[in-house]
Amino acid sequence: MVVVDKMKIFGICASPRENTTSYVLNHALNILKDNNFDCDMFNTVGKSIKPCMHCDYCLENKKCIIEDDMDEVYNGLLNADGIILATPVQSGSISSNLSAIMDRTRALEAVDYNILRGKIGMSIAVGGDRTGGQDFAHLSNITYFMIHGIIPVSGGPFGSNLGASFWSNDSLDDIKNDSYGMESLNRTLFEFQNFLNKYI
Ligand SMILES: Cc1cc2nc3c(=O)[nH]c(=O)nc-3n(C[C@H](O)[C@H](O)[C@H](O)COP(=O)(O)O)c2cc1C
Repeated sequence: MVVVDKMKIFGICASPRENTTSYVLNHALNILKDNNFDCDMFNTVGKSIKPCMHCDYCLENKKCIIEDDMDEVYNGLLNADGIILATPVQSGSISSNLSAIMDRTRALEAVDYNILRGKIGMSIAVGGDRTGGQDFAHLSNITYFMIHGIIPVSGGPFGSNLGASFWSNDSLDDIKNDSYGMESLNRTLFEFQNFLNKYI
């Protein structure tokens, strides 16, 4: 009997609190689990992710000098076939938590420039406002994917051009009823799984 390993998905929830972004990412990961993906989530709530100090220690030593919870992220990214970046929209773009995580992965580049190349990535952006900067947050995530050779996936035209976009109205009840956002998530997840099955 041939045993085929499940593909691994690593989702990062980059909100400073446990609320709407976490709800959406958990929902997405549950759908993927039901479709036989092995899913793991890193939630920045209660975790310590300090900002990059640009000390260049990683360039010399192939690891980051800062000792905090970033090791979980490094391992998750390295083991993943697919990566989901889920961020609340803050000041019209990604959260400062996510920005810190992105900067700290310079320590992975220091090991091997192509270390994340060929993985599949998708973006989830949750704004308090309907047009609060979700697309700018997606573009920031997609730019990160491209810098690292991660293949960015969208759900396509008609609502999910750049990824899954939500309008939370800063309320868990409201985001659960954001049917347009859920539709954009479903479409993006559909393409994400297509890419994983085709290219990994
Ligand atoms: C510092 C800060 C800045 C924010 N800036 C924006 C913004 O520019 N656009 C927007 O739509 N929502 C903005 N919001 C609202 C959050 O994106 C929104 O409440 C989101 O649902 C929070 O996600 P969470 O429930 O996972 O924390 C901001 C919230 C905070 C705390």
